[in-house]
Amino acid sequence: MTALESIQRSTEFLTKKGVESPRLQVELALAHLLKIPRMRLYLDFERQLQPSEVAALREMMRRRGQREPLQYILGSMSFCGLELALSPDVFIPRPETELLAEKGWEFLNASLAQGASSQTDRTPLALDVGTGSGCLAIALAFHCPQAEVFAADLSAAALELASRNAARHGTDSRIRFLHGDGFAALPEPMRFDLIVSNPPYIPSAEIAALPPEVRDHEPRQALDGGADGLDYYRRWASESASFLRADGRLMVELGAGQAGRVTEIFQAQKWIVEWVERDYNQHPRILVAHPG
Ligand SMILES: C[S@@+](CC[C@H](N)C(=O)[O-])C[C@H]1O[C@@H](n2cnc3c(N)ncnc32)[C@H](O)[C@@H]1O
Repeated sequence: MTALESIQRSTEFLTKKGVESPRLQVELALAHLLKIPRMRLYLDFERQLQPSEVAALREMMRRRGQREPLQYILGSMSFCGLELALSPDVFIPRPETELLAEKGWEFLNASLAQGASSQTDRTPLALDVGTGSGCLAIALAFHCPQAEVFAADLSAAALELASRNAARHGTDSRIRFLHGDGFAALPEPMRFDLIVSNPPYIPSAEIAALPPEVRDHEPRQALDGGADGLDYYRRWASESASFLRADGRLMVELGAGQAGRVTEIFQAQKWIVEWVERDYNQHPRILVAHPG
């Protein structure tokens, strides 16, 4: 069978299964299998696939047809240009979260520069609450090589994967992975320059209506934000101020339509909401605040 024939057949199969962007999904899977960039497929449509390649693609398509996310099937993805291993133990990082990482490392590097100019050099300290694959913690450590990062999660399996991802990018000596519930995971009272968090923020009753890729495959613990989806914001608003240095910042990712209510939650706890950054689709996505 040629590459083109297998792409066409698999696309038909995924279409019947209701998968979005079926042709793109097939091309990404086949390119991964053949270890070539996706665009190379277009130059090589007549390539004859080996029986083992046909069988491997079929198995990938069987899983994708059951609505397993492609990222779990491929076992990795890129976040801020860093390749991260993924498994169903961890939430799949979303493109919006790259914006949170970017704002985070910009802040850390700016405070470092400020410290240097006022001759009060000190190691920037960051905390990522609910680290999952480790994407935020690793991106912060990678892009601010002077920073030390703490990364906490309730899921031991996620932490294991996250620490392997950290090692892959040479950041493991500067990231401490901690198992536990929110700030209780910290071994001692500490103060950070930056706390980042992309907490679970889906209202519990809305989970059943999510696409099967999310509902049936991503960890529920990574999705469920309680009755109105805002439980974690209430917790972080009341708990995190005592873990920030005087000029520290909290940066949290927001779900669609949550910016107004989350701002109110923080203001009610005497936080100054500095700004809300919009994502590439112009949705208010990252709330930046400091204790008042
Ligand atoms: C939406 S995922 C975000 C993962 C990753 N930071 C990202 O942006 O892709 C939320 C993460 O918070 C973790 N989590 C949920 N409740 C928690 C808690 N009480 N304390 C620490 N982590 C928690 C989940 O296990 C999950 O890894």
